[in-house]
Amino acid sequence: MRILVHVSGGKPDPWLAELRTVLPEAELRVWQPGDDDPADYAVVWKPPAAMLGRRPGLKAVFNVGAGVDAILELGDAVPAELPVIRLDDAGMGMQMAEYVTHAVLRYFRRFDEFSMQENAANWRFLKPYEKRDFRVGILGLGVLGRRIAEALAHFDFPLNGWSRSQRNLAGIQCYAGPEGFTEFLRHSRVLVCVLPLTPETRGLLNRAALAHLPQGAFLINVARGDHVVEQDLLELVQNGHIAGATLDVFNEEPLPRAHPFWKEPRITVTPHCAALTLRGDSIRQIAGKIRALERGEPVAGLVDRTKGY
Ligand code: NAP
Ligand code: GLV
Repeated sequence: MRILVHVSGGKPDPWLAELRTVLPEAELRVWQPGDDDPADYAVVWKPPAAMLGRRPGLKAVFNVGAGVDAILELGDAVPAELPVIRLDDAGMGMQMAEYVTHAVLRYFRRFDEFSMQENAANWRFLKPYEKRDFRVGILGLGVLGRRIAEALAHFDFPLNGWSRSQRNLAGIQCYAGPEGFTEFLRHSRVLVCVLPLTPETRGLLNRAALAHLPQGAFLINVARGDHVVEQDLLELVQNGHIAGATLDVFNEEPLPRAHPFWKEPRITVTPHCAALTLRGDSIRQIAGKIRALERGEPVAGLVDRTKGY
């Protein structure tokens, strides 16, 4: 079995070493420009278009991340019949749960405001919020969204969820599709975005949508920067409609030094680290899926190209 590897922004050697451990029988090679030789599988992150064209024998592409936007944006360069398989949690769910729970608790317990007061040596009591006024709305009830919901449920936060298809999940008020979107927003004091980036979700969080959130709402974006129209968000934070935002992802990454988000005290910036790919867990998952495919069995995480995720 031949496996072709290309991991943008990372060194290939640790990936090859991990693959060698779990698939010792495989013949591994790092993709180089001009390599059109046959391969059975490709293991990729942000691959160049030339890598995934009509390569003889290619049975599937494994993305070493949850979001496949960088692959699908290659369009026709990726043959429609080529299965694209994404990571299915692989240790990301726990990290997302930690990140989002931290951000929600920070706003709920007003640590963001205490921190600003501390900087000004200002000892001032702030009345605690009530949980019933702090409903958390999760955009995306997939693998990661459900894990986040599970973590927040331990703290008794009332929960809303929004997905493409109607879901029925215990303890979550579920909304679906464009018809459920406004009502979902109107009842979400904290908005958590964990959607895939698709033509339908790009720019979804614009001024019109964010204005439906209750006055003094909070935004936590751990999905993709392009879900948010950044200028609209900035203005809504500056006029107080949005009381705070915690953003892990941006229109341009790294966030440019001159970007106004750096200077806005009510916006917290982290460097796209909400849930990292854990190499060992991911490669073990991919190896398990390769074995399942070789036996002719179905695998989780197969991307539906018509939906875009
Ligand atoms: P997933 O399991 O595919 O779940 C996607 C969810 O979004 C599903 O509930 C889906 O609805 C919903 N959805 C998709 N399109 C929609 C639309 N047009 N309207 C309403 N709902 C829609 O994905 P996941 O594994 O949870 O990952 C989600 C995203 O997190 C990834 O795509 C990636 O961009 C991002 N991510 C970020 C980081 C980071 O470090 N910042 C790390 C990992 C992942 P249905 O339930 O109806 O299908
Ligand atoms: C990271 O952003 C991922 O999609 O896995």
